Order: sequence, then structure tokens, then C-alpha cells
Amino acid sequence: MKNPKRLLVASLLLAALSVKAQNTKQTFVSNLIKRMTLEEKIGQLNLLTSDMDVTGPFMKPGYKKDIEAGLCGSIFNAYTAQYTRQLQEMAMKTRLKIPLLFGYDVIHGHKTIFPIPLGEACTWDMALLEQSARIAAQEASADGLHWTYSPMVDIARDPRWGRVAEGVGEDTWYGTQVAKAKVKGYQGSDLSANNTVLACVKHFALYGAIEAGRDYNTVDMSRRQMYQFYLPPYKAAIDAGVATVMTSFNEIDGTPATANKWLLTDLLRKDWGFKGFVVTDYTAINEMISHGNVKDEYEAGAAALNAGVDMDMQGGIFAGQLKKLLKDGKVTQKEIDSAVYRILAAKYDLGLFQDPFKYCDTTRAKEIMSAENLAAAQKIAERSIVLLKNENQLLPLKKDAKIALIGPLANSQRDMIGNWSAAGDYSKAVTLLEALKQRSANVTYVPGAYYTADTTLLKRATQKYRLEAADTANSQQMLAEAVALAKQSDIVVMALGESQGMTGEAASRSNISIPENQQQLLKAVYATGKPVVLVLMNGRPMTLEWEDAHIPAILETWFLGTRAGNAISAVLFGDYNPAGKLTMSFPRNVGQIPIYYNHKNTGRPLNPDNKYSTKYLDTDNEPLYPFGYGLSYTKFTYGELKLSKQQITAADKLQVSIPVTNSGNYDGEEVVQLYIRDLVGSVTRPVKELKAYKKIALAKGETKTVTFDISVEDLKFYDKDMRWKAEPGDFTVFVGTNSRDTQSAGFTLK
Ligand code: NOJ
Repeated sequence: MKNPKRLLVASLLLAALSVKAQNTKQTFVSNLIKRMTLEEKIGQLNLLTSDMDVTGPFMKPGYKKDIEAGLCGSIFNAYTAQYTRQLQEMAMKTRLKIPLLFGYDVIHGHKTIFPIPLGEACTWDMALLEQSARIAAQEASADGLHWTYSPMVDIARDPRWGRVAEGVGEDTWYGTQVAKAKVKGYQGSDLSANNTVLACVKHFALYGAIEAGRDYNTVDMSRRQMYQFYLPPYKAAIDAGVATVMTSFNEIDGTPATANKWLLTDLLRKDWGFKGFVVTDYTAINEMISHGNVKDEYEAGAAALNAGVDMDMQGGIFAGQLKKLLKDGKVTQKEIDSAVYRILAAKYDLGLFQDPFKYCDTTRAKEIMSAENLAAAQKIAERSIVLLKNENQLLPLKKDAKIALIGPLANSQRDMIGNWSAAGDYSKAVTLLEALKQRSANVTYVPGAYYTADTTLLKRATQKYRLEAADTANSQQMLAEAVALAKQSDIVVMALGESQGMTGEAASRSNISIPENQQQLLKAVYATGKPVVLVLMNGRPMTLEWEDAHIPAILETWFLGTRAGNAISAVLFGDYNPAGKLTMSFPRNVGQIPIYYNHKNTGRPLNPDNKYSTKYLDTDNEPLYPFGYGLSYTKFTYGELKLSKQQITAADKLQVSIPVTNSGNYDGEEVVQLYIRDLVGSVTRPVKELKAYKKIALAKGETKTVTFDISVEDLKFYDKDMRWKAEPGDFTVFVGTNSRDTQSAGFTLK
């Protein structure tokens, strides 16, 4: 047994050391600020993109001159140990030798690319999510970087929005778990270690709620909705110690987030106690002029700094306006100094003042895309795959089957690493064709179709990547080849969906089906009567009613990263039994959007026999595949749900238990999910909310009893007076394999 006295002494000692470290930092940074000119201070608030990669509407040529003049404190879109060293050397020639900070969009891996975040979320495995962030940080820091613009935790209920690919899906509580895991993975426990990086939670706030799913659109939301459903994941990142926050492009309550003092100062700093720095999104200060809350750049600069922004990403507004704004009394010296302090403190935490070249170590190149990292990428990719349908156990494939592989996505390395795979090297990505060929001599491939025959869509989606461009002239011939090949095979595997350019930022779609020409191909192949396995590759929930009604086996594989092909073929052949579960509902059609499982009951809940109840005339209320849904090659049978008590007090714990048996023919993993409904509240409550889950492995024939401890904490919400509390009364607890198929039991909080 550990000695409690010793433990106390040790923790007091640690606390004292950390106070001492804080004091040293404070003294160092404050003394430095005292020596800085106003121009040098403003320079620290200025973040510019290098020309290696451009991730916004424009770039500033001549940014190197700004570095040399001490007028730019941070750079993004520049990496490699050699290149960042070259730029850092310029900063070392400035008067005060303040090191540059290098940021980058390391969103789902740096060079080793992991599944897109929406796919990775389907693992329901926080240790894996933390691991991929850890590896990303290790590779990024070995490649000269200090700071990643991740995690993105914008809750989203609208799959038309292309950026759902970058997020965690629709659930708030699940989003908080992911936020914590990612911050821990990137930042570790010591930012001064040379293999950790600053994380940046984004986009603060509510970006996922843009109207009609159209990127950069307006948001309008009640405070209650914000607090209950949209803010908690950002808050979880703050509580986990995230070093930086990025503002969102949208407005909140009529004021752009980047000018919103309530958001950036009252909520973020005063209520949540955030101590790091706030960076804008790309030119978000400039965009206020178009939003219409300010007249010009002068007013925009004042609005941003007054609201609590510390660093201007690429807008040049702080650089151009702050001096005059200060002279005119529109901003204060204290505001400028506080912003400088926070940014220098982050550089200090990274250890850059001790060694500005700490992350410019070319000998670390071997840490990038190491065999270990690639193995982790494959493991995570396998676990991100969601089996949506598997009629008559068509999958796994028989080892000796003659396979026709068809579809434009089966042989595209670029698509495998998905959108926002910035530094990812797609020439190293493994396609499904390559992986299947490695396994079986019985695979023949034809593309069968291009991504889409809609040239306008293609042009809009492929601004950057020409290789997606299609020549649609010979499409009939391609389709005929595919049908002929299908006829000669035992089984057809079809890799269809979206190109990576149809997803991500600035890639909203009003029609989220598989593009029409690919659907024609699918229907033509289906008409041959051969069994078809549909392997979907895409960045968002899609509308799949026809596919679900006709195609016997459907695998959702998202964009799985560098090892995509290996992961998919492992699942197709049954080396890995799929266990992924959706974190975003798949609607039946776009008319159902926004669609999410934790909706309200309404005053006229659905009653199919009553016309005057909440429903559509032409479709169901339920999505096609609900939140939490995903099948396995084996079968899990749930036994009887038991509660330890019928009544609890605020001091009690309620034990909820359920036996789960693997009653099928394969070993497998299951995500057992627990939801709660508060039946009567001082404000209306959702029909159910995810509160816990457990992912368990069960060998064939094995039974495990899964137990959850529910406490009063799990019953809290923002009450009528916006207090976070639990109200006595009746609750229902639901446990099951997804948000729809559950068992339930009631209990009372006294
Ligand atoms: C704009 C995007 O909204 C943001 O997520 C990204 O980090 C920045 N550009 C920088 O590339």
C-alpha cells in the first residue's frame, strides 16, 4: 500500500515546482515584452502562410521579408526540418531573435495518414484515437512542426456539409470523449518534449450548425442549444489543456465568431478559464467586412482584438491596422501585450527560446512513416470500417472466389488518403486493387465509370487535383466492359462513392447520393444477377435507399488513409471482423436533414395511424442507418437488462448490467451503448442521449456481462435557469447495439 503522507508530500512538491516554473516563464516572457517595440509586438500577432501549400483564398508574397524584419511571428504551411530551419534562421537574425512558431493542418496524420476523422470516430476506441494523434504529433514534430490545427470538434447534423468528414459526428457526449483523447495524443504531458505539438481546437464555435449545410453559411442558435449540444466538445478540449483555439468563420447571434467578445472573452476565458492563445481562421478578420458587422479593415481589426483574438491568420489586418488603432485609442496597449504574452508563452512552453531549432532535426526522418506507424494506420483503418448490410452472410469472401473488382475508387491512391491529408504522400497509399491482388490471383479490375458525369460538379470539386478530371466520352464502353467482367466472375466487389475532392472544406453537396453515373453502373452490374459487395468510399453519410434495398452486402470504408486497401481487404476476407459503428445518422433522403437520434419528442410524437402527428407523407422519420449502427460477421445476442435499484439518490450509483453473447460463427467485437432519457424536465429533453459505452471482445460462444455505473452526473443538463443540474423524477435507461435497437428499463432519481 502506498503511504498517503508520502503521496501528499510528493504532490505538494510537484505543485511547488510547477508554480516555480510558471513564475520563471512569467518573468522571462514579461521581461522580453518590456524590450519589444510596438512593431515587434504586432509582428508576433501576425501568422502568414508560406507558399509550400495554400489552404485559403489568397497568400501574401514576400512573407519572408516580414520574417526578416521581425514583423511575422508564426508561419503555417511550411514543413520539413530543412525548410523550417531555413526560415527559423531568418528569425534568429532579427533584433530580439524571437523564434517562429510553425503551424500546419495535421488533421488525420502527417505523412502516415489515418482514416478521415468521421471514419476514425467509428472505432469507438479512444485509445486508438489518442494513438493516431500521438503518431501524427511525432511525425509532424520530426518534420519541423510545432502546432497542429486539430482537433475539429464541430457537432454536425447535416451531411450536406462537406466538413462533416473532419469531425466527430452528431453526438455531443461522444464529441467530448474524442476531444479529450485528441488533445492528449497531440500534446502529451510535456509540451517541451520534442515529439509533442500544440493542439488547436476548432472551429470555435458552432461551425457545424451552418444553415442548409452550405459551407461558410450563417448560424442562428439559441443559447440553450449551444450550451446543451454544441459547446461541450470545445469545453472538453479546454479542460484537457488544449493550448490554442481557432475561431470559426460563421456568425453567432449576429456577430462573427472572430468579433464575438461574449464568445472569446466572457465564455472562453472568464467562464472556462482558457489560458492559451486564440488564432483566427484563414482571413476571418477580413471577412467581417463581407459579413457586414464592420465597415473596413480598421474597424475589423479593432473588433477582433477587442473580442479576444490574439493571432491573425493570414489576414494582415493586425499587421496593417493595430498601430493606428492604438494611437486612436480604439485598442489598448494592455490588449496587445496580453495577446503577445499568450503567444510567447506558447513558444516558451515548446522550449523554443532554449533551442529554436529543436524541431528541425533531420536525423528524425526515420520516425516518419515507420513500419510501426503504418501498422497502426492499418489497425485503425480496419476498426473504422462499418458493415452496413450483409445478407445471407455474403461476406467474408471465399478465398478462392473469382472476383470482379469494379469502380473508379478501387484504383485511386489520391482518394485513399482523403481530404485534409495535407502533407500525406499519396504515392505510398495502398489501393483496394493493389491489396486484393496481393492476396488473390483471381482478381480482375475495370473502372466501369468515372467519379461523375456531371462536369460542373467535377470542375468545382477538383480545383486543385487535376487527376480527378474525367473524360466522359467513352462511358458507355466502360460500363459494357464492367458488365462483361461481372458476368464471368463469382462475385463482384464495387468500390463506389465520392472522390476526396467532393468532400471536406468548400465541398457541400445538395444531393448526397452516389453520383448518378456510378449508380447506373451499379444497377447494370446488379442486373447481371451476380452477387455484389458494395464498398463505399466517401466523406459523409450518403443517401442509399436503393442500394440498401437491392445490394446484399455494403461496407462503409470512408477514406481510410495510407493503408486503406490493406484494411478493406482484411475485412473482405474476414481476417478482421468489422466492428465499427456510425457516429452520424444516414438519412433516407436529403429531405430528412437535419437528422439526429437525440431529437425532441415534440407535442405530437410520431403515430403512424394519426395524420396529425409529426411525420412525412412520403418517407419515414427514422434514418436508414441510425447513430451507433454497425454489423459484424458474427451475431451478438443481448440478454435481460437489469438495474441494481429502481430508485437512487444523488449520492448513489445505479448499476446497469446486461449479458451479451457471441452467438454467431466468428470471434468479434461489440460496442454496447447506453442511452438515457429524462422523462419530465423543467425544459424539454431529448428522446435519448448517449451517456456511456463499452467496446468488448467476445470469442465465438462467449458471454460477458457488461456493467455500467450511472451517477447523478450522467443525468445533468441545463435547466430552465441554465444551471447544470439533475432534476428528481423518472428516467429511462436504454442499452443496445445502436441507438435504435435497445432494451429499456425505468428508474427514479429521488
Ligand atoms: C481554413 C479552415 O477552415 C481551417 O480549418 C484550417 O485550419 C485553415 N484554413 C488553415 O489551413
